Amino acid sequence: MALKTFYVCSECGNKVSKWMGKCPNCGTWDSFVEDVEEEAPKSRQIRQPARAGGYSGFESSAVPLDNLETPAFMRSQTGYAEIDRVLGGGMVGSSVILLSGEPGIGKSTLLMQICGAMVSRGNKVLYVSGEESPGQLKMRAKRLAVSGTDFYIQTETSIEKIIGETERLSPDMLVIDSVQTVWCDGMSGMPGSVSQVREASGRFIALAKSKGFSVILVGHVNKDGGIAGPKVLEHMVDTVLHFEGEREEAYRVIRSVKNRFGPTNEIGVFEMTGEGLREVKNPSEALLAGRPNNVSGNCAVCVMEGTRPIIAEIQALVAPTVYPSPKRTSNGIDYNRLYVLLAVLEKRLGLRFSTCDTYLNVIGGLRLEDTAADLSTALSLISCIKDRPIADNVTAVGEIGLSGECRAVSSAEQRVKEAERLGFKKILIPSRNVGKGKLEQSRYQIELLPVRSVFDALTADIWN
Ligand SMILES: Nc1ncnc2c1ncn2[C@@H]1O[C@H](COP(=O)(O)OP(=O)(O)OP(=O)(O)O)[C@@H](O)[C@H]1O
Ligand SMILES: [Mg+2]
Repeated sequence: MALKTFYVCSECGNKVSKWMGKCPNCGTWDSFVEDVEEEAPKSRQIRQPARAGGYSGFESSAVPLDNLETPAFMRSQTGYAEIDRVLGGGMVGSSVILLSGEPGIGKSTLLMQICGAMVSRGNKVLYVSGEESPGQLKMRAKRLAVSGTDFYIQTETSIEKIIGETERLSPDMLVIDSVQTVWCDGMSGMPGSVSQVREASGRFIALAKSKGFSVILVGHVNKDGGIAGPKVLEHMVDTVLHFEGEREEAYRVIRSVKNRFGPTNEIGVFEMTGEGLREVKNPSEALLAGRPNNVSGNCAVCVMEGTRPIIAEIQALVAPTVYPSPKRTSNGIDYNRLYVLLAVLEKRLGLRFSTCDTYLNVIGGLRLEDTAADLSTALSLISCIKDRPIADNVTAVGEIGLSGECRAVSSAEQRVKEAERLGFKKILIPSRNVGKGKLEQSRYQIELLPVRSVFDALTADIWN
C-alpha cells in the first residue's frame, strides 16, 4: 500500500496536502508538521466517531449548576512529598497527568519509583512500556529496589490490548511510557503522529474518567523543547508536568505548568543517583554547597519557586573580546533578560559590556524564571567586570526596570527568612519592600539593605 505524505496543524489538527506557513482553519503560524499514512481504499477509510459525553465519558442532558453534587476528590499521596506538592497535595483519582522531558532525563526512573511507592501503600499499578523490554524494566526495578505483587508490567503498544489489561486488572493507577508509542487500530498515521497521539490520549482520558483511576502519560519533547504531538494534548489532560535539568548535572526539577487541581509553578527537586532519584528536601543548602569564597562574578539570589523560597547562586564571566560581535551565553536565565540587563548596565552605569564576551550560569542547572533574580544577575555582572568580589554572606533580590530602578518583589518576608535561615548576614532588598507594615529591620537578625536602584547597590556595604 502506498504511503501518503500530508501535513497536520499541531494546534487544531487541520489536515492539508501541502505545507503552509499559516493554518487557514485556526490562524496559527508555523504549526504544520509532516505526517504519513497508508493510503487505504476508499471503502476501508474510517471516520472518527464523535465522542458521546465528551472526554468525561458521561452522557447527560443539561442540568442546573446548583443541582450538581460536589464530588469528593480522592487525593492519594504518591510517597514522594516533592511530587505531592507539585500536584497540589497528592494525585487526584481519575485525573490524567502528562509528564514530559528530554530523552534520558529520568522520566521512566521517576515513574517506576512513584509506582513502587504507590504499590507499597496498597495500590494496584499497571505500568505499560512501549519503549523497553521486560528484562530492561526488571533491571531498572532491581536497581531502584522497587517490587510488589500488585505492580504489573506490560510491554505493549496496541491500545486495545492495554485497555483489555486495565479491564482485567482494574488498577488504581495506569502509566503509559510513552503516549507516542501507542498505536490505535483503525486510525491513520504511524505511532507518534498527531492523529494517533490525539486519539490515544483521548481514549486514555475517557478511560480514566469512566473507571476512576489515575493515568500518567509520558510525553516526548520535540527539538524546540515543547511536547511532541498536538498542542491540544496539553489542553485535554488535567495536569502537565515538565521534568527539567541538565543531563550532566545531578539535579532534576519537576515543574507543573498546568494543573486543574492545584496551583502551578510549584517545583519538586530531585537528585539523580545510582539508586534512582532522591528527593532534595532542602534545595538551597544543596545548591549552595561548595561555593567558592571571595571570587568575583558570584552572587546568591533568593527566588520563589511556587510557594517555596530557594537560594541559588548566579555566576558571571565577562572577558574582553577582539571580535566585533561579542558572545553572550546564558544557562538558567532567560537570554532576553540578560540582554536587557546588559543594556541597562551599559547605559545607566556606563559599563562597557559591548566589548566583552559574557557568560552567565545558574549553579545546579536550575532555570530561574522569577524576575527577582535581576538584581543578583546585575551584581554578578558588575562584580566580574570590575573584578571586585561580593562578600560571601550577602544575597540580593529585586527586579530591575529599564531606568535601573529596583522594583518591589512578592513574598519578600519568605525570601528574607530563607536567607536568614541559611546564615546570610546581609540582603539587598528593594526599598519599596522595607518600612512600617512591610519588612521591619527590628524583626530580623539579617541586615536589610534597602536599594532604590542599581546605583545604590554599587555603594552598598557588600563589596570586598
Ligand atoms: N546505573 C545507573 N547509575 C546512575 N544513573 C543511571 C544509571 N542508569 C541510568 N541512570 C540515569 O538515568 C537516566 C535514564 O533514565 P530514564 O531511562 O528513566 O530516562 P527517560 O527520561 O525515561 O529516558 P527516555 O527518554 O529514553 O525514555 C540516565 O540518563 C542516567 O542519568
Ligand atoms: Mg523512558
